[in-house]
Order: sequence, then structure tokens, then C-alpha cells
Amino acid sequence: MAKTRTAFFCRECGNETPRWQGQCPACHEWNTLVEEPAAAKRKSAAAAGVAVSRMAPSQAVPVRLRDVEGTERRRWATGVGELDFVLGGGIVPGSVVLVGGEPGIGKSTILLQVAARLEGAELRTLYVSGEESAHQVKLRAERLGGQAADVTLLAETELDSILLHAAEIGPEVLLIDSIQTVYTPELEGAPGNVGQVRECAARLQRFAKQTGTAVFLVGHVTKGGGIAGPKTLEHIVDTVLYFEGEGGVDHRVLRATKNRFGGVDEIGVFRMTAEGLVPVANPSELFLGDRAARASGSAVVSTMEGTRPLLAEVQALATKASYGAPQRVSAGLDPKRLALLLAVLEKRAGIPFGQLDVFLNVVGGLRLAETAGDLAVAAALVSSVYDRPLPEGAVFIGELGLGGEVRPVGQVERRLAEAARMGFTAAYLSPRAVPRKPPAGIRAVGTEDIRSLVEKLFS
Ligand code: TYD
Ligand code: MG
Repeated sequence: MAKTRTAFFCRECGNETPRWQGQCPACHEWNTLVEEPAAAKRKSAAAAGVAVSRMAPSQAVPVRLRDVEGTERRRWATGVGELDFVLGGGIVPGSVVLVGGEPGIGKSTILLQVAARLEGAELRTLYVSGEESAHQVKLRAERLGGQAADVTLLAETELDSILLHAAEIGPEVLLIDSIQTVYTPELEGAPGNVGQVRECAARLQRFAKQTGTAVFLVGHVTKGGGIAGPKTLEHIVDTVLYFEGEGGVDHRVLRATKNRFGGVDEIGVFRMTAEGLVPVANPSELFLGDRAARASGSAVVSTMEGTRPLLAEVQALATKASYGAPQRVSAGLDPKRLALLLAVLEKRAGIPFGQLDVFLNVVGGLRLAETAGDLAVAAALVSSVYDRPLPEGAVFIGELGLGGEVRPVGQVERRLAEAARMGFTAAYLSPRAVPRKPPAGIRAVGTEDIRSLVEKLFS
């Protein structure tokens, strides 16, 4: 019996090489080559697209942009407000959206909810499940109520069969759960391997473009947090959404990390309930949670997530180090940023952290990605060291420079408006960022540097 020919594929860029090497010769990443059956030689390029080519003869001809039809193509509202927002205003016909996230985070749930809502809006859907049996999906549908019973389900993993059914039914939206379970027999190798994932995604993308069907793909994530499969998967699709959430809390954040039809870094916030995912109308309230009134080491920041302001609580705990090198533990903030801020506080405000263990946490599993959180982190740290709470109703907005200076950050007006809306009364920020007319109810306190902030707060 002929032995299957194998080759080595790069998990990052998908490049194929005949021999194993430590470094990918194409993208120069280390240790990314995996052995997989080599791609079978195709009879012809067209044969690859059998299912597709049948309904859309793709004889492309050059056209003027002004003559391209449907420039004002509508978007389909999913009816799940937060998802529509993250998508940039609804589903774009013919687009491919990848939804990534850890197991159990709610990917299947939200897709089924979306399918149900679309059915309610008279848009046809086809939900392809390769992970769960029809029975299991039905159980979920029963929990979700609404129109979920109208969703058409296909429990299939072979791509050609999926595409044939899709061509027959002609759904507006095709949902694939998950891309790692789909395979094409034209390639050898198990579903989920680099070649299979790349090929199936590329063919689904072609199907989407040729038929105007919007396609949602569920993608599993690896331990490292990236979507399993080749990095090229993210290049093939139009939009990448990540579902994030912390164990133990029931809220989920949906974040756009790539979007050809909208802004990136936009987030939508949901709560997982017994009846599925429910959009959270007031995320600031959620992340501020039940803040212990006036505890030391707690500071609030008005941060931007995409175009949305969001209030978040930063908690710091500085305690006497018992032995050896003091600990630095940080959740929700880059440890390097924490080290930098500790150094600035030590040097510019004279607060010695050398003998202190430092623990930092951004409440609710949120990540502070922007430097506008610096001032709040610094304030929380100082407050913990002095064991004195920060003034009630205060928010902190600003970046800290290495000289200890407080720097202005963008979108101050929006941040202040959100703080005022949530009942905060004072905002500490760079004097250069103080707006001429702050929103009603909130005082903008210009703060030159970290030393003067510490004096203002604690003397
Ligand atoms: P699921 O959508 O299956 O996650 P994924 O597809 O990302 O792996 O979500 C599963 C979790 O959500 C599971 O722990 C049960 C919970 N869940 C609810 O709390 N309420 C619901 O209405 C549903 C359908 C699921
Ligand atoms: Mg699932």
C-alpha cells in the first residue's frame, strides 16, 4: 500500500516544506512546523470549486467602480444589538465572520441566537453543526426560546456536502460550528489540521463572495489564545470577533480584532443567563460592580473600548514582602507597564516599593490596554501603600511619563461624559486635557505630575 505523502506546514503562515526545520523558511517563526499529509494534486483548479461553480459561473470581467452594483448594499441587523454594534452595524451580505473563543464561552449559543433572530426577521439561515448532534442543538434551542425552532440544522462535516445543501437552500446566512470540524476529502489529513482549515475557510469565503451569503465560522482557540489553525485563517476572513470572559463571572465581552466593514477594538458586552446571552445595556455599571465603598487601593478609570467609554475599577494591594524578591502580580494590566509605573512612583513621588509585594487587578476580567489607565493604577497603588481610600466620586484619566508628568489622552470629553453619567463628581487629568466646559456635575482637576497628585490626594 502506498504510504501517504506528508509534508511540513507552518502553523503561522501555512507555508509547505518537504522537510522538517526548526524555523519556517517563509515567515521565519520558530517551532511552527507540523507534519501533515501533503495536499493531493488537484485535477484542475476549477474542480476544487465544484459545488460553487455550479450556481455562479465565475467569469470575472473588469468593470468601472461606478458601474459596480449594490454599493449601497444593506446590512442585515441581527437583532442582537451588541453584536450588530461590534460588526459595525449588522451583517454585511457576502462577508465571512470568524468567531473565536475558549470552549464553553458561548460561541454556539450566540450563533444560534443570531440564527433565531434572523429567522424572526424573515432571513433564511442554515446552521451547520459538526460539534454537536441535532438533538443537542435542539436542547439548546429549547432553552433559547423564540424563533430558534425555525432554524434549519445540518449535522454535517464534509465541506462539499455543506456547500451543496447551502446552494440548494440558499440561506442568507450560513453558520458553521466549527471550522475545525469541517473537512474536504480532496485533502488528506484530519479535520482541524492546517491544510484542511485553510482550504475549507478559503472555499467558504469564495462561496460567500459568489453567492452573497454571509458566513459565520466558529473557531477554537489554542492555549496561547489565538485561533487554532494557520494564522492565514484570520487573513482569509473579513471580520474576526473574539469572545472573552473570565471563569466564575457570567459576563462575556465580544471584541472585534479585525473588521473590513467597521471599527476594530469595538466591544459588545453580554451576560450569560439561563435563556442565553443577554446584551448588557450599561457596561460601566457591570464593571464597577458593587464597589466596596471607600476601600483603600481602589481607583476608577474612564477607559475607551473602541469608540465607547467604559468605567473600570483598578484594585491594588501593596503588602510587606515576607522574604526574597518582592512579588509583582498583575491581572488586567501588562506586567511591564506595572513595573514601569512602580519605578516612576518610586523615583518621582518617593514611594518605596522595594520591600513591598504588589498585587494589581482590574475588576471584572477587563484588560487595561491603553495608557490612559496609568493614573488610576498609580492612584490605587499609592492609596494602598498609605492605606487611605481615594476621594469619593473620583475618576483618573491620564498617562504617566517617565518624568512623573501626567500626559493628556484622547477622547477626554467622552470619558468625562461617561463618568458624569455614572455619578462621578471629580476627574483627575492633565491640565492640558481639561476641557473648557466639562459635562455638568463633574469637576476636572488639572494635575501636573504624580507628586502633586499624591499631595492633592493625601496631604
Ligand atoms: P456554548 O455556546 O456551548 O459555548 P461554546 O460553543 O463557545 O463552546 O456555551 C456553553 C455554556 O453556556 C455552557 O456552560 C452552558 C451555558 N449556557 C447558559 O448558561 N445558558 C444558556 O441558555 C445556554 C444555551 C448555555
Ligand atoms: Mg460550541
